[in-house]
Amino acid sequence: ILRMTDLDLTGKRVLIREDLNVPIDADGRITSEQRITAALPTLKLALEKGAAVMVMSHRGRPTEGEWRSEDSLAPVAARLSELLGIEVPLVRDWVGGVPVEPGQLVLLENCRMNVGEKKDDEALSKAYAALCDVFVMDAFGTAHRAQASTHGVIRHAKVAAGGPLLMAELDALGKALDNPARPLLAIVAGSKVSTKLELLSSLVSKVDQLIVGGGIANTFIAAMGHGVGKSLVETDLVDTAKKIMADAKARGADIPVPTDVVVAPAFAADAPATVKPVDAVGADDMILDIGPDTAARYAAMIGRAGTVVWNGPVGVFEFDAFGKGTEALARAIAASNAFSIAGGGDTLAAVDKYGIEDGVSYISTGGGAFLEFLEGKELPAVAALAARG
Ligand code: 3PG
Repeated sequence: ILRMTDLDLTGKRVLIREDLNVPIDADGRITSEQRITAALPTLKLALEKGAAVMVMSHRGRPTEGEWRSEDSLAPVAARLSELLGIEVPLVRDWVGGVPVEPGQLVLLENCRMNVGEKKDDEALSKAYAALCDVFVMDAFGTAHRAQASTHGVIRHAKVAAGGPLLMAELDALGKALDNPARPLLAIVAGSKVSTKLELLSSLVSKVDQLIVGGGIANTFIAAMGHGVGKSLVETDLVDTAKKIMADAKARGADIPVPTDVVVAPAFAADAPATVKPVDAVGADDMILDIGPDTAARYAAMIGRAGTVVWNGPVGVFEFDAFGKGTEALARAIAASNAFSIAGGGDTLAAVDKYGIEDGVSYISTGGGAFLEFLEGKELPAVAALAARG
């Protein structure tokens, strides 16, 4: 893949696809700007190299062909202006041409408002390509989408390159999965096995230890023959969980199951939390976190790991009473010498809550893209870049 860092961009019109799809509340406030700050070095570099910079991103999932203020990237343009210290105009109608000079940077309005964007339309892809001398794909978070701004334009641009953020993501994830320092430990947690089934099935053939948490762990606890009371559980996937455990065992990998859990009678912040051995969960209990013994055991495993891949909180950490397990694992990751990677919206919220940003080796900007990479899938935008050489 051609790298943007290797290109002379002096006086060139450079179109950069970023993933600036950040959460914005009803008052137009950006609630997490991680994706914006992650894109900044790329944008600064393009300006330093003397390019006329056009930044393209989607936001949300708007109806094509319609402009609505709630889909606008206006709050992102305002924040970019502050962070870059230069005026960043938001260009509303831009497919036919963009007024921008070398040394300037403009943000193009939400590309998903363009008809044909999502279906990777050929004519739209060519129109994007015609805007620039060089197209830079830097949106790792959207690299799993084969759309006009992530995939089609790469095929038609005069020059197509990978941006520094995209390349850093691919390098970090490759380091964790392709030739990891061992033991390789993955934490896969979240509410449902069904949404992470492919991930679990793929990782089980690579990892030395696979810690499951949240609702996913409940299905594994049920697979061990324990009662889970009123907990979130997918009974139809208990056999699948058994198979994943058997596959792991067959290759000497370990899927530890909690020995103690934190239960409550209801899913609520003020519900009374009780620690119970995993074989003593009552019919009216809901499992909302791993217990302290389990957290200590998992933390010790993290301490011995060479590589840690973290996706998903192991308990309902939004409620403090049920966040101790996630906090213990987060602190263990921060304290360990392992090469660690964290990704996914809930995971990043946990990283933020426990203030361990500096203790994680690499924080991915990808949600779905991060999962698909870990699942071993080819990301269409990356494949298109590779095909251009
Ligand atoms: C994300 O938030 O995961 C990316 O921005 C992709 O968004 P999408 O799922 O709407 O394609």
